Order: sequence, then structure tokens, then C-alpha cells
Amino acid sequence: MLTLRELTEKTLTELGIRDALSVEDVFAKVRESFDKQIATRADDVRNLMLREAWLGSETNPATSFRSFWVSRESGVLTLISEKWLKSAPPNLKPIVGRQFNQLKAHIEAGLEQQRKKIESLTEETSLAKDRIDLSLPGVHRPIGSHHLIRQVFQEIEDIFVSIGFSVVEGPEIETPYYNFEALNIPEFHPVRDDMDTFYLELPKGAATPLLLRTHTSPMQIRTMEKQKPPVRVIVPGKVYRRDNPDATHSFMFHQVEGLAVDTDITFCDFTGTIEYFVIQFFGPSVKTRFRPSYFPFTEPSVEFDVSCPFCGGTGTAASGGTCSKCKGAAWIELFGAGMVDPAVYGFVNYDAKKVSGFAFGIGIDRMAMLKYGIDDIQVFFQNDVRFLRQFP
Ligand code: PHE
Repeated sequence: MLTLRELTEKTLTELGIRDALSVEDVFAKVRESFDKQIATRADDVRNLMLREAWLGSETNPATSFRSFWVSRESGVLTLISEKWLKSAPPNLKPIVGRQFNQLKAHIEAGLEQQRKKIESLTEETSLAKDRIDLSLPGVHRPIGSHHLIRQVFQEIEDIFVSIGFSVVEGPEIETPYYNFEALNIPEFHPVRDDMDTFYLELPKGAATPLLLRTHTSPMQIRTMEKQKPPVRVIVPGKVYRRDNPDATHSFMFHQVEGLAVDTDITFCDFTGTIEYFVIQFFGPSVKTRFRPSYFPFTEPSVEFDVSCPFCGGTGTAASGGTCSKCKGAAWIELFGAGMVDPAVYGFVNYDAKKVSGFAFGIGIDRMAMLKYGIDDIQVFFQNDVRFLRQFP
């Protein structure tokens, strides 16, 4: 038996149809085939629609069935009209015409009925679209953690906040006045050599040069300008220097500045506060010491050392050789500090005869390296997750 396609590709004459009865017969065959298809498809279409809805596809299985029968270009009806009707022998034309019209009405009615059925299914399909499959694995969004530097900032802030300091932050772009002059570092002072560094390119005629701050100390000035004593602040932040990157240097690093000024602050308050902080941070087993040093904005100035946390302050590694961290010195230099130089008070309209205070500038990257046994500062800035994940 010929398929529908094959039937409709030939003319009636080619099919050997020569009388009215055979015409009715062949049309009956087409109608039968349509009826059969549409009956089985009702269920299929429903299932297909549910599936497509589930997969989120835009294709509509009802459309392809419809176009198989009635598409203007190559649907079954078009083919019949072209092949059977137009080329029908004159004696058969009326009956072919009538049969064609009946078939057309039948198919259109059938499709219309199917369309209505599908419409009533759309509610069901849209429900399927919205359904949540609780058995699917959820979307896994890994939660990050704070960078080790941020964590150490937090540890340090917690310690100082617990003894009455508050946290303030300041600009990373500074004027030379705040970065140098008001800190008692005049223009040709030699300590600028270390620091005279990243200046911004500004339009000609700019009121003042600007530079990336080389330390957090400018915030000492900004804080005292704004507030009368008593002052107890710490200032965490980024600082910039013209340092070539190596295991212990980076052109950008982190500091926490500290400043306490009041009417009766003594050197003992200063040493006590710093020792308290270091013991809180490294644990009670470390020892501390001060060495004389020099900063233009503190007098006296000190370098604060801690007994090497790696060799327990012995200078000897566990293997018996020299400790590689302190190079056998048993001490590690931590940070600079001192009593605020009275000259600085002059810049902020504090009465140097009435107030006294201390300041310190802690290098955070260095503290983190010492506490967590990291021997290359660069790992903080490379953002390799294999490193970062070790400090969740
Ligand atoms: N600002 C100094 C530096 O970056 C550190 C410091 C701060 C020293 C406060 C004394 C007092 O080297």
C-alpha cells in the first residue's frame, strides 16, 4: 500500500483512478489516515507538550502536526489540490472537488478540536513549567572568606577597641602637608628619601601636589585637627612606597596607625599599651623590648621588637641550626612608635604644655607573616585561592 506522501505525489490518473467510486475510496483513505493520526496524537501531543514545557523548549509539537496537513506549501491538502484536483479529468472534476472540500472541512474541524483541547492543557503545562523539582541538586555557591590581611586587621582592631580605642579611616591620596610637613618632616628632610614617592599627575596650576600616602600617620594630624583631646584612635589602611617587590617588600602594603593623646599620658602608658597588644596578638609566651629609634614626629622614638615566635626567642631552629626567621638574632623587629613630638601639636593647635601622647605604626603584612608563618609577602597580593583557602 502506498503511504500518504506517495499517494499525494501522484495524479489520480497515475494512481489508476478513473471513476467516481475510486475517487471516494481514495479520499476515504486520506480521511481515515487523518482520523487515526489525530486520535493517537491527542495523547502524544499532551505528553510532548508537558515534556517541552519541562525542558523549557519553545517548540510546539501541535504546530508540526498541523503543518503536515494544512501547510500552504507542502501540506497534504495542498498536495491533493495540486496533484489530484487541478489535473483531474473533466468528468471526475466535480466529484474530486466535492470530496476535496469535504476532506478539507473535516481536517480543519479536527484540527480546531485539537487546538481547543491543547488550549485546555496549557494551564497544566504552565503549571509543569513552574514546578520545582526538589530532587534536583541545588546550585552550589561557594561562600568566600575574608582575606588573611582583613582578618588580621580585625584581630588588631578587636584588641584595641577592647581597651578604649576607636577605629577611623582616611584618604589614600594625601597632600604633602599631611603626609610630611604637619608630621614635622620639612621639605628637604632626609627621611623623605624613603617616602618621596608616588605623586599624581595633576593639571598645571593645581593648588597642591598629591601623592599616595606613604604611611597612615597623616591620619594623626587629620584626627587631631578634628577633635580635641582625649584622642584614642587606630587607623587601618593601605599605604604606598617606591619599593621593588620581593619576599618582604611591596609597593602597596597595610598599616594600622595608633594615636593616644590626653592630658596625662606617660611613657608607661605607652609601653604598657603596646606590650598588652603584642601579648594579646602573639600569645603570652613572647617577650618584648624597645630599642631607641628615630621618627621626626615622635620623641623619643622606638623600634618595638618581639622575641622570635618561630624559635621561641632562642635564635636556634628546631633542627639545631640558626633560626631562618630571625637569622639567629632571637628578636624580630615589629614596628615603629614613640611619644608624640611636641612640634606636631603645634600643627594642630594643641597646647604642647598641657597634652602628651604616643603613636605607633604597625605593618600588618609583617604581623600576619610572623603570626601565620608566611615567608613571602607577595602571596597576599597574588590571590591564589590555594593560599587564601588555608585561612577560611
Ligand atoms: N609612620 C611610620 C612608618 O611608616 C611608623 C610610625 C608611626 C612611627 C607612628 C612612629 C609613630 O614608618
